[in-house]
Amino acid sequence: MVSVVGAVFVALSLAPLLVLSVPPIGTQPEQVHISYAGFPGSMEITWTTFNETEESTVEYGLWGGRLFELTAKGKATLFVDGGSEGRKMYIHRVTLTDLRPASAYVYHCGSEAGWSDVFSFTALNESTSWSPRFAIYGDMGNENPQSLARLQKETQVGMYDVILHVGDFAYDMHEDNGRIGDEFMRQIQSIAAYVPYMTCPGNHEAEYNFSNYRNRFSMPGQTESLWYSWNVGSAHIISLSTEIYFFLDYGVDLIFKQYEWLKKDLEEANKPENRAERPWIITMGHRPMYCSNNDKDDCTQFESYVRLGRNDTKPPAPGLEDLLYLYGVDLELWAHEHTYERLWPVYGYKVFNGSIEQPYVNPKAPVHIITGSAGCRENHDTFVPNPRDWSAFRSTDYGYTRMQVHNTSHLYLEQVSDDQYGKVIDSIWVVKEKHGFSAWF
Ligand SMILES: *[C@@H]1O[C@H](CO)[C@@H](O)[C@H](O)[C@H]1NC(C)=O
Ligand SMILES: *[C@@H]1O[C@H](CO)[C@@H](O)[C@H](O)[C@H]1NC(C)=O
Ligand SMILES: *[C@@H]1O[C@H](CO)[C@@H](O)[C@H](O)[C@H]1NC(C)=O
Ligand SMILES: *[C@@H]1O[C@H](CO)[C@@H](O)[C@H](O)[C@H]1NC(C)=O
Ligand SMILES: *[C@@H]1O[C@H](CO)[C@@H](O)[C@H](O)[C@H]1NC(C)=O
Ligand SMILES: *[C@@H]1O[C@H](CO)[C@@H](O)[C@H](O)[C@H]1NC(C)=O
Ligand SMILES: [Fe+2]
Repeated sequence: MVSVVGAVFVALSLAPLLVLSVPPIGTQPEQVHISYAGFPGSMEITWTTFNETEESTVEYGLWGGRLFELTAKGKATLFVDGGSEGRKMYIHRVTLTDLRPASAYVYHCGSEAGWSDVFSFTALNESTSWSPRFAIYGDMGNENPQSLARLQKETQVGMYDVILHVGDFAYDMHEDNGRIGDEFMRQIQSIAAYVPYMTCPGNHEAEYNFSNYRNRFSMPGQTESLWYSWNVGSAHIISLSTEIYFFLDYGVDLIFKQYEWLKKDLEEANKPENRAERPWIITMGHRPMYCSNNDKDDCTQFESYVRLGRNDTKPPAPGLEDLLYLYGVDLELWAHEHTYERLWPVYGYKVFNGSIEQPYVNPKAPVHIITGSAGCRENHDTFVPNPRDWSAFRSTDYGYTRMQVHNTSHLYLEQVSDDQYGKVIDSIWVVKEKHGFSAWF
């Protein structure tokens, strides 16, 4: 009797240990997310497995059609995290092509050794007269991602066509040997597996030369997601790395590479036939040129690196403000400060309102929005008490920005406060009869 009870006791006390020691199935896909691959009719599906699989396959089909009637194959790359454990994972990438514009698709991804859940997305409408809707934010962490729940529901009810995450993910993806990155990518699957999740790098991605960022995301172009551009509706969207101005050890040459690429990209976008089709040029980059926060970031100072460049490099590194102004960039989206700030049209530290009554109707300089308050373990930032005259509206509430590019002349922006249960606390219409450098005069 006694020994039987003893055996039962031993078995019970071992049970949790036994359960914990069951290994995860290493060929099971996880961390599924999608991005626009940069050409009409495309979508790229990215996911992770911890063991190698023979194939990287997406099975998909039109919503309401025969399930998984189409198959696309891609490939996997081995990513070895830079941490002491040297954790290995396989990042699978498959580009879907010839998608029917504006049509909903159902998909799953994986291989014969394991399939993901079933997800869906809507292929982008390729018409330049389409009016895409965006959710935009930076600085969302694994811990305290306060806006995520609201974004999940709004994404699921179809409020967004695209999400822009303007740098700083997970806090930080490399931590705990990349496990924080894994967990964060699992968290955002609830939105990023359904709408294209377009990114740029932030300072929290810097460890091991941005390797978690470069490996986990799949943005268009050949720069490992560091800088690229793409088109949607009547907008040309440019994603930049501001971090190359701050982490010089990874290569001062990267500043010049990006600058030259950006100049070419802007030249191309400004060819009369291109600018007529897609007159809105919108940039996104993590660290702002202007801000009025009191956390000692250089955007609070006159001489921010992103704005004016650096003269302590050889040769001196050019900043971005003049270039973006010269090519008539309409809107510049930033994050990094864990707050929301809207600026009056500004260039060279001076305000260039369209008019006093209607500052954003035919503005005479680019419009800047700083939206880095999605929520992370570093909480909110705070503001200096007396901002410069270019600062139009500020909020320390957690939240995110919504944008809709209505047509060639009208673009709408609004700020959602998550602290105030989804209340819209700020909104503007940017109205432009003319785009490009000549619109400034
Ligand atoms: C799966 O990956 C783990 C961790 O890298 C490794 O130890 C294991 O041998 C792999 N299993 C197979 C079947 O390849
Ligand atoms: C794409 O958007 C345009 C402009 O809104 C619309 O006229 C067209 O019907 C849309 N295409 C599809 C396939 O829904
Ligand atoms: C960092 O990564 C970039 C992008 O791959 C590369 O061009 C650069 O040479 C790397 N820097 C160092 C120091 O390895
Ligand atoms: C170099 O840049 C710093 C600010 O980044 C500025 O204070 C200084 O005047 C500049 N020096 C020269 C020689 O331009
Ligand atoms: C720009 O317009 C706003 C709103 O009317 C006004 O408060 C601000 O003073 C204007 N700034 C300048 C420099 O005209
Ligand atoms: C552009 O969109 C705005 C807002 O929806 C609308 O008022 C305006 O009439 C549209 N312009 C054209 C040319 O369609
Ligand atoms: Fe940041």
